[in-house]
Amino acid sequence: MSRAKRIVSGMRPTGALHLGNLHGALQNWIRMQDQYECFFFIADWHALTSDYENPGNIYSYTRSMMIDWLAAGLSPEKNVLFVQSRVKQHAELYLLLSMITPVPWLERNPTYKEQIEALESKDLSTFGFLGYPVLQAADIIIYKADGVPVGIDQAPHIELTREIARRFNHLYGRVFPEPETILTETSKILGTDRRKMSKSYNNAIFLSDSPEEIHSKVSQMITDPQRMRRKDPGNPSICNVFSFHRLYSPESLVSEIEPACRSAQIGCVECKKKMAGHLAEFLAPIREKIKYYKTHTDQVDQVMQEGSDRARRVAEQSLEEVRAAIKI
Ligand code: TRP
Ligand code: SF4
Repeated sequence: MSRAKRIVSGMRPTGALHLGNLHGALQNWIRMQDQYECFFFIADWHALTSDYENPGNIYSYTRSMMIDWLAAGLSPEKNVLFVQSRVKQHAELYLLLSMITPVPWLERNPTYKEQIEALESKDLSTFGFLGYPVLQAADIIIYKADGVPVGIDQAPHIELTREIARRFNHLYGRVFPEPETILTETSKILGTDRRKMSKSYNNAIFLSDSPEEIHSKVSQMITDPQRMRRKDPGNPSICNVFSFHRLYSPESLVSEIEPACRSAQIGCVECKKKMAGHLAEFLAPIREKIKYYKTHTDQVDQVMQEGSDRARRVAEQSLEEVRAAIKI
């Protein structure tokens, strides 16, 4: 029997995870854990490429991200869950790959220029930031990944990873497979202000939010923008609250609300209250587990340690092949 396909993916530690993260990457990973051999890691070195001036939060964000992963259902038995900076082999491979990666490949990377403009408050004219995709390539090929689940914004980085792997194999002999991009559908729910849900936009609902926080955030959500007064009919198909109902409310309620909104029989205040109740219920078991792990951080540290030890053994094997191929 051939081995299950191997999947590698990472997240930068950004602190508490929100519903956009859950319905985007995380639930996808949770589905994959039963089908593939998965390596999932927290990319704390990647966080440093843009936050090198203020690294103080990276460690606490790393731990709280691991807590959210575990609480949402990523299993440390089914997967290798680890922290990038604890597997130093990533850094060694990054250095070796940097020798063979042409700088123009990095300069023409579309996310590079975009990010420099988007984060203009930070000085990103560093070597580390330019080399970000080389580190990412090392993260992936060090485990000889067959596939990498990522959102569309990361697709150019996986393409670059394939090019770097190909160049390595061409120069030194075949060591690395070229990983496939497994596109993750972006989550359909938006932030409370209808922009993309993001911690930095202050429009996110977090997995750890209490029922009171959920009710208060939901009460401020923007609904159908054309529905100005209570007696105006609404249009659920363009209402973000209704998208949430579809995810969290029972089918019967969803099919009641749809016509009631269109005929102005239900007002947004009541509609939101119902949705917030179901959302709070949906998050209750996750929130409980987050609470548990926050008071049992020794268990979280153990998961990170054991996962990183497992990852390191696999990574070191690849490095032995790499050193032999380069004869160094
Ligand atoms: N660059 C990715 C992001 O910002 C995080 C990441 C780092 C990653 N290394 C990776 C994702 C390897 C997939 C595979 O989201
Ligand atoms: Fe949206 Fe509900 Fe208001 Fe209709 S009643 S516009 S679905 S919040």
